[in-house]
Amino acid sequence: MKLFLDTANLEEIREVASWGLLDGVTTNPTLCSKENLPYERLIKEICGLVSGPVSVECVSDRAEDLISEARKLNQLAANLAIKIPVTIEGLKATKILSSEGIKINMTLVFSPSQALLAAKAGAAFVSPFIGRLDDVSHHGMELIEQIMTIYENYDFETEIIVASIRHPGHVVEAALIGAHIATIPYGVMEKLVKHPLTDSGIEKFLQDWKKIPSK
Ligand code: G3P
Repeated sequence: MKLFLDTANLEEIREVASWGLLDGVTTNPTLCSKENLPYERLIKEICGLVSGPVSVECVSDRAEDLISEARKLNQLAANLAIKIPVTIEGLKATKILSSEGIKINMTLVFSPSQALLAAKAGAAFVSPFIGRLDDVSHHGMELIEQIMTIYENYDFETEIIVASIRHPGHVVEAALIGAHIATIPYGVMEKLVKHPLTDSGIEKFLQDWKKIPSK
């Protein structure tokens, strides 16, 4: 399973990259708005910190504008994936951009039919937002299962990025069903490591180690 960090914060990216486990980064306009840096400069800096794909989002409406925006953004670094929302205009743009070899991450996906169309349009990635579905009393992980079945039925190569993750249980459930990628906020990434029994176990071993005679 590939682990992406869902953030635009350079410190968070540097920190998790130093663990040696970071496969990519996903951003969105909300995350970038917290960083107080010009958009293009921020994107270039993030792309310099990781070798895997960095998803950055387009904000245009119409297909022709999405296409120009995506082509321009894609020039900023070699490891970009361009996020485009799953609308009719977004699908038109994705079909053309994907045929040019630009990696598209179709985002704001909330239904299996949207994910099917994203794959048919040639998207490299699809981002279903499971936490936002849970927030409105749906079961986000069911959507991941449905998309996986559809993609397996037809051998689509589009990779599923489980997005809008709220807690470590989301990551574990996604791994159990074999989702390709989880994009994880920094706070949840830290929680994946921690366990109180690990901490108390280390403390006890250190205390007991001191009782061992040195000679
Ligand atoms: O980056 C997309 C997604 O992960 C957003 O998550 O927490 O705003 O629903 P959230």
